[in-house]
Amino acid sequence: MTTDHAHWASRLTFVLAAAGSAVGLGNIWKFPYMVGEGGGAAFVLVYLACIVLIGAPVLVAEWLIGRRGQKNPVDTMRDLSAANGRSGAWVGLGVSAVIVGAVILSFYSVVGGWSLYYTVEAGRGAFTGLEAGGVEAAFDAMLASPLTLLLWHSVFMGATVAIVARGVTGGLEAAVRLLMPSLAVLIVALVIYGTTTGHFGEALSYMFAVDLGRIDGSLVIAAMGQAFFTLSVGAGVMIAYGSYLDERTSLLSAAGTVILLDTAIALAAGLVIFPIVFANGLETSAGPGLIFVTLPIAFAQMVGGTLVGLVFFLLLSFAALTSAISLLEPAVAFTEERSRLGRVGATLLIGGLCWALGIAALLSFNVWSAPLPVVDLGLFDALDGLTSKILLPLNGFFAVLFVGWFLNRQSVVEELGLSGLGARLWVALACVVAPLGVIAVFLAEIL
Ligand code: PFF
Ligand code: NA
Repeated sequence: MTTDHAHWASRLTFVLAAAGSAVGLGNIWKFPYMVGEGGGAAFVLVYLACIVLIGAPVLVAEWLIGRRGQKNPVDTMRDLSAANGRSGAWVGLGVSAVIVGAVILSFYSVVGGWSLYYTVEAGRGAFTGLEAGGVEAAFDAMLASPLTLLLWHSVFMGATVAIVARGVTGGLEAAVRLLMPSLAVLIVALVIYGTTTGHFGEALSYMFAVDLGRIDGSLVIAAMGQAFFTLSVGAGVMIAYGSYLDERTSLLSAAGTVILLDTAIALAAGLVIFPIVFANGLETSAGPGLIFVTLPIAFAQMVGGTLVGLVFFLLLSFAALTSAISLLEPAVAFTEERSRLGRVGATLLIGGLCWALGIAALLSFNVWSAPLPVVDLGLFDALDGLTSKILLPLNGFFAVLFVGWFLNRQSVVEELGLSGLGARLWVALACVVAPLGVIAVFLAEIL
């Protein structure tokens, strides 16, 4: 164990940090609009199947890799594959994971910036009295302004860098412990508000009455990508967080906690958004603007809406921040352990690169909106699609393959505290179902 590699203060700190990473914009911003674009319940069903059958084993595999390696993802993969007498090709997984995390951060921070901007706008009553059209116009105006996007992206990235520079194993606990339950309570309250709109039943059946005929290759790959994204797997984050773990923490129970929380918050976010969508005759397929055009409408209509809106977007910004921190960590840990820059220098370097890429991404909403060749998407959408739909699943695939087939199976099962049926279930999931699942989804999209 390297002396400068930090550790979590306690098991609780680890679970809170991992949950803080998982719960974020992916649940509240991305999940509802992907359900809306993917066609409702069919998407939700495939998403849930991917969480259980693929995301869960990958999450456990990444923590296990990290805990055994006790280093940044790249050196962890190098050490573990060398110890098993395998070729260094596995280092590629570490490198890819670290890069993907940083790339996701670049566009994630742009949306974190939207959330900050909406905190201020909601707080100053900018949405009061607006109808649906006015709220939509406000969102479009924000996207059309490079300076507004740049300002809030910079504030969000600055906050992320400031925290990571101090080290993530330290002071986050208090923040996550207080703010995440507050966010959960507020979301539940908003679900209850949704039942008063007269369109809650419609939202329920939109999300849960599955029409299997809607399932096709592009739905399946989007749902799998979202499962990876929401659990923070495939980006080196959970490998890095696992590397700060000691031997005592039970990976399975931690995974159960994180997955239940993350899934509950995503589903609840859907039950907040869709009643508002239907009650106001909006499009379910509004895309990335969905929460930013639906929620302000509801806040404009409800008693105390200015305060509720302010608190909601503030808590969302914090949830986004705890995820952004985790996204920066793998690349910073690598740079810190491999260079003489030190913690602060490494954070400034990587954070600066992500900030610059984020600027290019935010310009694709306005001055640089021409689609890129080949992918036919703007840079923001291209970065999101490439990472979620392709790179996260690929990295996760190799992580679970590594644990399932290259680490000693008996020692893995013992480390997870499994025997008998549990052990067989783990082997089935990690060795067969999860890897084949990823391959099947890729094939479904290609064929
Ligand atoms: N899981 C986060 C969310 O749902 O908002 C986003 C994220 C964090 C994705 C960390 C990937 C990652 F490695
Ligand atoms: Na999530």
